[in-house]
Amino acid sequence: MSSMTIDVEAAPSHKRHTRLAQWVEDVAQMCKPDRVHWCDGSHDEYQAMQRLMILSGTAIPLNEQKRPNSILVRSDPADVARVEDRTFICSRHKEDAGPTNNWEDPEKMTRKLRELYAGCMVGRTMYVIPYSLGPIGSEISRLGVEITDSPYVVASMHIMTRVGTSVLQAFGVDGEFVRGLHSVGAPLAPNQADTPWPCNSRDKYICHFPETREVWSYGSGYGGNALLGKKCHALRIASVQARDEGWMAEHMLILKLTNPEGRAKYMTAAFPSACGKTNLAMLIPTIPGWKVETVGDDIAWMKIGADGRLYAINPEYGFFGVAPGTSMKSNPNALLTATKNSIFTNCAMTPDGDVWWESMTSEKPAELVDWLRRPWFPASGRKAAHPNSRFTTPAHQCPVIAREWEDPRGVPIDAILFGGRRAGVLPLITEAFNWQHGTFLGATASSETTAAAVGKVGQLRRDPMAMLPFCGYHMGNYFGHWLNMGKSSSPSKLPKIFYVNWFRQDESGKFLWPGYGENSRVLKWVFDRCDGKVHSVETPIGRLPEPADLDTRGLDLPPDSLAKLLRVDIDGWMAEIASIRQHFAQFGSRLPQGLNDEVADLEKRLKVLKN
Ligand code: OXD
Ligand code: MN
Repeated sequence: MSSMTIDVEAAPSHKRHTRLAQWVEDVAQMCKPDRVHWCDGSHDEYQAMQRLMILSGTAIPLNEQKRPNSILVRSDPADVARVEDRTFICSRHKEDAGPTNNWEDPEKMTRKLRELYAGCMVGRTMYVIPYSLGPIGSEISRLGVEITDSPYVVASMHIMTRVGTSVLQAFGVDGEFVRGLHSVGAPLAPNQADTPWPCNSRDKYICHFPETREVWSYGSGYGGNALLGKKCHALRIASVQARDEGWMAEHMLILKLTNPEGRAKYMTAAFPSACGKTNLAMLIPTIPGWKVETVGDDIAWMKIGADGRLYAINPEYGFFGVAPGTSMKSNPNALLTATKNSIFTNCAMTPDGDVWWESMTSEKPAELVDWLRRPWFPASGRKAAHPNSRFTTPAHQCPVIAREWEDPRGVPIDAILFGGRRAGVLPLITEAFNWQHGTFLGATASSETTAAAVGKVGQLRRDPMAMLPFCGYHMGNYFGHWLNMGKSSSPSKLPKIFYVNWFRQDESGKFLWPGYGENSRVLKWVFDRCDGKVHSVETPIGRLPEPADLDTRGLDLPPDSLAKLLRVDIDGWMAEIASIRQHFAQFGSRLPQGLNDEVADLEKRLKVLKN
């Protein structure tokens, strides 16, 4: 190995943590970087990463007047999204990964990875990023360390997690932490010029070792494959920690909803990737006097507090949002968050050095450079930004960030919403009868696929609790954990559970519900249901509002659209039963009996109504 310069000044406490220091040493021996840099999370360090990316051609600085301290990064066209088929849960026993995960034997995978990692950082700097998921000092927060050879990852982790000296102090001499090792898998021979987006086109592996709380990610530099604090730690590894320790790690936004009397409730919502979590988290209500503020837009960690209520923290520090579709109309707060200090990936660039993506403005710019660096004109007939192009931006810049978003105690949750993108059958809103029924609604959640992962878009798939790509263990046991959580407090203290579908279409494929800010009308019903103040009807599928129960004042919605949105489609549901049974069958004996009971009860209730 070439000489190793460790910036001891920047990381005064790391040397006292012998396990951490030893692991870093071992990784350096294996990967053979030219240098090792311990990240201190400082502003200077962030700026240095930006400069490095600009020098290497990875990034272009954006116009300082329009988008201060921001860059545009264009990835390799083959490295643009999460790679679910290259993502593995390497638990000791295959059955523990379950039917929804790719599994490989941990010893076999480690052998394979060690071969790939041998010398994989030659010619590069190895960065060590100690980070905290959640506010320092919160009982719910957890620590992690990501080792990476990508300055893009370092800068993104600065935005997405808490990195810095107070985090290093929190490690102490023997603090527990999740180990994440990431390499783009592109060593540089002496004098070999780097490419703008180094990655490995042959081998990509995103591997999780739940028992040893480790992540090994190789070959991709993009998003959830590379920013290991996000999906890999905060969901896949954390879901296992949560099961073992009695808490919950969920793919959920957290919002604060305040009514005109100034009373607030907190809600979480789980929708599959790119189904509008960021939009809902920052929504501007159209109903007078109501206010939404943001606690988080993607991940919630929740734990029962001493008072028996479920408290949530946002483990993240920034937003990694899907850019296309984000506009001053659809989500002004997201756009206003990303006005400065942000990283844009695979967006298009305007002639004056700003970014653009589809639907950002009602009129397309006359000319652009597209995400593949080609000249683009409206007549080009192709998308200028990649459908999974992203903005990475600090959460504290959000104009509607809730004042308590960093409260170490978390926020007490009143309602949990599940949902997905479904053209038919699923009504606008359903309230579960109880926690077990709510778990059933979550476990059977379904959606049409989006561009957030590599694969076909628009395919219907069951995505339980929006955790299909993110649950680090057997999904049947995960459902069991949900049911156990429901038993760990009294029903009156637990959140109520709902299922929403903003995407219902009519026979001609037109959306029946306007969505966006109008979703506040549905949130209002949820709020008032939590207070027991508003009416609902019992139906075989759950409790629904009648059209008159929803506040539709000022909304130009044909009455038959609302009736359709709230209709229980008995035949559609009978067909759904068969598909739910098929979905559940894959979990075998690990499916909790409570969920089998829920299907049987649903079928019985539907049959009564049909006859
Ligand atoms: C994300 C995702 O990036 O869910 O948040 O894919
Ligand atoms: Mn997500």
